[in-house]
Amino acid sequence: MESEELRQKYLEFFAARGHAVLSSASLIPENDPTVLFTTAGMHPLVPYLLGEKHPAGTRLASCQKCIRTGDIDEVGDCCHLTFFEMLGNWSLGDYWKKEALSWSFEFLTQVLQFPLEKLAVSVFAGDADAPFDSESFEIWKSLGMPESRIAKLPKKNNWWGPAGQTGPCGPDSEMFFWTGAGAAPNSFQETCEDPRWVEIWNDVFMQFEKTAEGKFIPLKQKNVDTGMGLDRVAAILQKQPTVFETDLFAPIIAKIRELANSKNEKSERIVADHLRAATFIIGDPGGVPPSNVDAGYIVRRLIRRAIREARKLGFDFAQTFTTQIVEVVIENAGKHYPELVQNSAKILLEFEKEENQFKKTLEKGEREIASFLDKNNSVDGEKAFYFYETFGFPLELTEEFLREKNSAIQNPEKFFAAQKAHADQSRTASAGKFKGGLADDSETVARLHTATHLLNAALRQVLGDHISQKGSNITTERLRFDFNHSEKMTPEQIAAVEKIVNEAIAQNLPVECSELSVDEAKAAGAVGVFDSKYGEKVKVFSVGAVSKEICGGPHAKNTGELGHFKIQKEESSSAGVRRIKAVLIQ
Ligand code: ALA
Repeated sequence: MESEELRQKYLEFFAARGHAVLSSASLIPENDPTVLFTTAGMHPLVPYLLGEKHPAGTRLASCQKCIRTGDIDEVGDCCHLTFFEMLGNWSLGDYWKKEALSWSFEFLTQVLQFPLEKLAVSVFAGDADAPFDSESFEIWKSLGMPESRIAKLPKKNNWWGPAGQTGPCGPDSEMFFWTGAGAAPNSFQETCEDPRWVEIWNDVFMQFEKTAEGKFIPLKQKNVDTGMGLDRVAAILQKQPTVFETDLFAPIIAKIRELANSKNEKSERIVADHLRAATFIIGDPGGVPPSNVDAGYIVRRLIRRAIREARKLGFDFAQTFTTQIVEVVIENAGKHYPELVQNSAKILLEFEKEENQFKKTLEKGEREIASFLDKNNSVDGEKAFYFYETFGFPLELTEEFLREKNSAIQNPEKFFAAQKAHADQSRTASAGKFKGGLADDSETVARLHTATHLLNAALRQVLGDHISQKGSNITTERLRFDFNHSEKMTPEQIAAVEKIVNEAIAQNLPVECSELSVDEAKAAGAVGVFDSKYGEKVKVFSVGAVSKEICGGPHAKNTGELGHFKIQKEESSSAGVRRIKAVLIQ
């Protein structure tokens, strides 16, 4: 079965069972300051899993584009990918375990016709936080799954979420397919760690909320969140040993082999995965080109690593090659993702620019190392860091270059020491600048900024000490403050927070700044980011006895200048993160 047919069959199956089919959300989360990319099908749905009403109803299904950067270094084996597609269905306080598991079973055995003998499942074994999921166990048995193929596993295996520190989570039930030759082992409990059992689908029963104290309390709205890996299931359906032989990858790998001069399976896979992922990120409706920050930096890293692997494969560096591979990616995936075709000119231009720039970097770096070696006998770790920092020449390539000259880096550990010293320095520099999140240095912005400190302190008083800032943005009109908290605030809590802030304003409290060492600031009970270099002084702003926070200003001189504080909106921003918008009325 082709992957497009699998997508269609899945979505049709759930549409026939009352699910609204959503198109894939952007790969770049629109409302989540804590992550760079959409990592799961549930990610764009977090506000609705927390209780907001979804306009399309309580049953949803989608095929979602996902990026998991945590897996970048593992790409090259059978099944790790940076970009992948997740098929999912959701119940927002609607159906529960019986329907979810029965439909999963029906889809796998009837629609995909996976033989029962090759399937196994796991359920949550129970612990001090939550009981054994006997309900799922019994449902699987009633569906015909032999008891020996139902493993009872601990939280490490059979619990999903919360996505952040706190929030909805619950036991899950995972489905596995035996990919080994011959019959599957009888007991899944004893063999579940065998990599030939490939996890294909996960049904999460979001029935608990993890609180800041680490407790699991039952949720009012019980949700089902499921995720099936399209690429893995396609490999099984197409009887292929890895995802790279499926129709999702085969034409891309073929093009890479055409351009290569030697064969190295791992390098081919890295080139294919990384260029495909970068194509999807640049070509997304919220597309991000290569750069040195955030998502753009990931795109740059993906493209540059692909180019380095292409070198190992003996590509002809005199011609532009990433674009030739990316054209195949666009043609192959563009049938399902028309945005790639619509944005193809932009995508190809970005790849061409990045490839040329990186090749220049490589040439310049090599010239520098060669001339340094002419004058000196060897290159040490610190110098290798200099080549990296100044010319963008990666450590791995310095090593390779020296190997060709029958040399090696002396004291390579010095590279990492120099890298760390450099990172510490730039962190301190950016903390000093403190432009982040502020519109300008005007008095209006300064007043809103002081109000943000009061709000932070008031939230800690009302909601608890777990509250910390996750983001802040101030315009001349309003402040916006993101913080970790898993529940919608009640009207009483909002009123209590406003009262604390307005009382501090009414007291005409002075806003004072002192320079303290990090240890002194900690001892004084200041909140904020303690990432300055040892011995460095930080600025601590105190507002009377109400708030003490590490910060770089600007601030009002006295709370009396602030006016009346009013919260206009309290909403979900992302998993476990709430967002407040507030104004000062003069
Ligand atoms: N959200 C669940 C997962 O990513 C389904 O596995």
